[in-house]
Parts: sequence; C-alpha cells; structure tokens
Amino acid sequence: MTVTIVGSQLGDEGKGGVVDLFGDRADVVARYQGGDNAGHTVVLGDTEYKLSLVPSGAVRGKVGVLGNGCVVNPETLFSEIDELRERGLEPEVNVAERAHVIMPYHRALDGIEEEAKSDADLDAGTTGKGIGPTYEDKVGRRGIRVGDLLAPDSLERKLSYVLPQKRALCESVYGVEPDRFDDAFDYESLLSLASEYGERFREEGMTVDAGEFLTERIDAGENVMFEGAQGTVIDIDHGDYPYVTSSTPTAGGAAVGTGVGPTVVGRGEVIGVVKAYLTRVGTGQLPTELGSVEGQTPEEGGRPEEANLATYIRDEGGEYGTVTGRPRRVGWLDLPMLRHAARVSGFTGIVIGHVDVLAGLEEVEVGHSYTIDGEELLTLPSTSERWARCEVNYRTFDGWPEADWSEVATEGYDAIPENARSYLEYVSDELGVPIYAVGVGPGREQTVVLRDPFE
Ligand code: IMP
Repeated sequence: MTVTIVGSQLGDEGKGGVVDLFGDRADVVARYQGGDNAGHTVVLGDTEYKLSLVPSGAVRGKVGVLGNGCVVNPETLFSEIDELRERGLEPEVNVAERAHVIMPYHRALDGIEEEAKSDADLDAGTTGKGIGPTYEDKVGRRGIRVGDLLAPDSLERKLSYVLPQKRALCESVYGVEPDRFDDAFDYESLLSLASEYGERFREEGMTVDAGEFLTERIDAGENVMFEGAQGTVIDIDHGDYPYVTSSTPTAGGAAVGTGVGPTVVGRGEVIGVVKAYLTRVGTGQLPTELGSVEGQTPEEGGRPEEANLATYIRDEGGEYGTVTGRPRRVGWLDLPMLRHAARVSGFTGIVIGHVDVLAGLEEVEVGHSYTIDGEELLTLPSTSERWARCEVNYRTFDGWPEADWSEVATEGYDAIPENARSYLEYVSDELGVPIYAVGVGPGREQTVVLRDPFE
C-alpha cells in the first residue's frame, strides 16, 4: 500500500519526522516534487542528519526514489550521498530519468529574477536554489532531464539551444553580465560538468523509470511512502500565488510526480502534517502573524505588539530555516488554511506536531475563520490580494502547562494535558479527519502514536 505525507501549511511542518516515524514500515520512500530547497532533519540515536535531496528514509536503509516531479541538483545529491557514506551509511537513491536537472545557470537566474521582481513586490523570497527557473524550463520544453545526462548527443543539442537564450536573458532583459557567475553560462564547462554527472549516474546505476520502478514494488506487496516537500500554501496551483514554490506539494503531485496512477495514491492513506502554530519563510500573506520579520512580512502584516511572543515561539521551536538559516515568521494556527489543505489533498488523517512548543503560554489563539466584505469565510480565498484583505476571527484556548514530554509520549494520548487535547480535538473535528499522531518533542520517541497508517 501507499502512504502520502503532505505539508498542510507553508512547509517546515516537520514532515521529515513523520516520514521517519511511519517510514519504519515502508520499503520505499519516494519524493515527488521540489529539490534541494527542502530541508529535513532526521535524528537517529545521537546523530542528526540534515538532508535536502536524499529522501529521509534512506538514513534508515529504505530504498529512496526521486520522482520525475523533482528537480535535481546533482551536485547536492552526490555530496549528500558522499557525506552519508563517510558516516557509514550506504543510501540507495534511484533518480527518475524524467526528472529535470538544476543547472548552474538556473541558480544564477533565480537570484537575478528575484532581485528584478522585488521592485514590484513580486519576489517570493526563494531559497536561491534555482527551483523556479528549472521548472520554467521544464514547462517551456527546453529543460535538461536526468536522462539527457546519459545521452551525450541529446545533452549537447539541448544545451547548445538553451544557453544562448539564457545568456541573452541575462544581458538584454536583466542587464547583467553572465560571465559574472563563474562558469554558470559557459557552454564548455557546463557540458563537461553535466557529462561528469551523467557518468556518475551511469556508473552507480542510479537512474530509473520511477513509475515502473514503484509500480513493480507496489505490485510485489511492498509499502511505498510518498514524501512531500514544502507545503500546501506554497503549492504552485493551490498556494498563495505568486508567493509560492514552483511545484505541487499537495497529494495530486504524488501521482503526477512519480508516474503511479492517482487511484494508487487514493487507495492509500494521505496524511497531512500540521504544526500546532504557523511559520513561513519568504514573503506573502500570513494573516495570523505575530510580530514581523523585516524583508518578509508584508507592509500591513503582522502584529508588532506581539513581537516578544513571536520571538519566544521562534526560539522555543527552533524556527530558523534548515536550508537558509533565515528566521521564520511565526503566527497562530490558521483553520481556513487547514480546511483548504484537507480538501485539496483529501487527507485521511493528520499528525499534529510541536505541541510542546506552545506549553506554558497562558492562552493560545487560533484563526477560526476570516471576514471579508462582511462575509465569513471558512477556507482560503483564491488570490493573495483577497487574502490580504481578510480579517481573522480568533478563538482563544486556555494554555497548557509544561510537562515531561517523554513521559507523556510513553503514557499515551490521555497523558497529554487536557487543554492541549481540547485544542487538538478542535482541529481534528473542524477538518473531519482523525489524528494519527501528536508530536510533543523533536525526537521520534517524543511522539504519541494513535494509529499507524500502514496498518
Ligand atoms: P523556491 O522554492 O526556492 O523557489 O522558493 C519559493 C518560496 O517557497 C519561498 O517563499 C521559499 O521560502 C518557500 N520555500 C521553498 N522551500 C521551502 C521549504 O522547504 N520550507 C518552507 N518554505 C519553502
């Protein structure tokens, strides 16, 4: 069977931990979108692994797959694999031949375009990894795929077509000298780099037809986990456009981004990962935002008078970017966002984490609904402009005390402080889906498991 793990908010919900927790019973863990803009931390015993491309399950000896919906920076992939090997692991990562390759010029263009967009307040605050420009080339049918790295003729033909365009884009549209970026726009260097990547992919036998590979595994009775990166509200279609990433983190992406049918994904479980409060990195709306982060919070956004509370939650939760180290914007839980996420992905269950981070607060607020133009809205408006005009209707919950969370995890759900349980049950009732687990600390053992989706 399959289990799909989806971020229900803005990324950084703690999906890596959930993949790690439920992934025990998985044989294969497949990523279906995104690239090295993701950052997941896996804690194994006393050792912490920070990964951005290698699927988290690979740390536990699961077979890893990067589906065709991913964009792959071979540099990152190989260095993560090398590092894991140095630490005594032997990760197996299979990469879809249909996945697109992030080239050095994509990374350069990411920064150039963001800077140009910032004059019109259209910059998303990207991770600078070249994600958007690579997906642009994919949809523009001028991308270089992993399969091309193995076929010198095809690689040369595509690179010699696309590179003059990229250079012209730099020079004539953005007024930037391409040779400023080392060899990022240099044909000979790129060809030799890409050929080296291809060589390594071939030598290590790492490339596959992901759909075929996964279908064979599923047909053989193995358990497959689809690991979503980022989150619903930065989905290219269903997120806060244009302040989004360029892929499909929602559950539909699991089918399109790997090559198994939607019926296969739909027959399995789809688990939404929820953080007990909100964080956002980058620009865009966050109506329940507390405090503000310079350069990211929109002009009218945030609650500056709650800056201390925001700092408290940020520090308690360690809310600094895994990839970029940026301080994350912090806000109260937003139910319209979660209702939207539950519908778009068809959640069959949720995992709510970081409940311990809010412990000790006198009160905890939740954005229950919005008001716009005199009407109550229970889910997200379709445009960022309308979202910016929404007023939040809050509900206030009594806070819960600090606890020995490891003990709580051992004792089970009823050991969670009562007020925290009321909060959790409110979320589950509003979404109409059961809670599969509650995270009360960063480690795997600090989780209260109510139900295993593979069972
Ligand atoms: P990009 O994916 O680098 O193009 O960035 C687009 C937007 O998505 C920016 O606002 C990023 O901060 C955000 N983003 C990308 N990856 C992640 C992630 O893994 N967690 C949270 N936000 C992300």
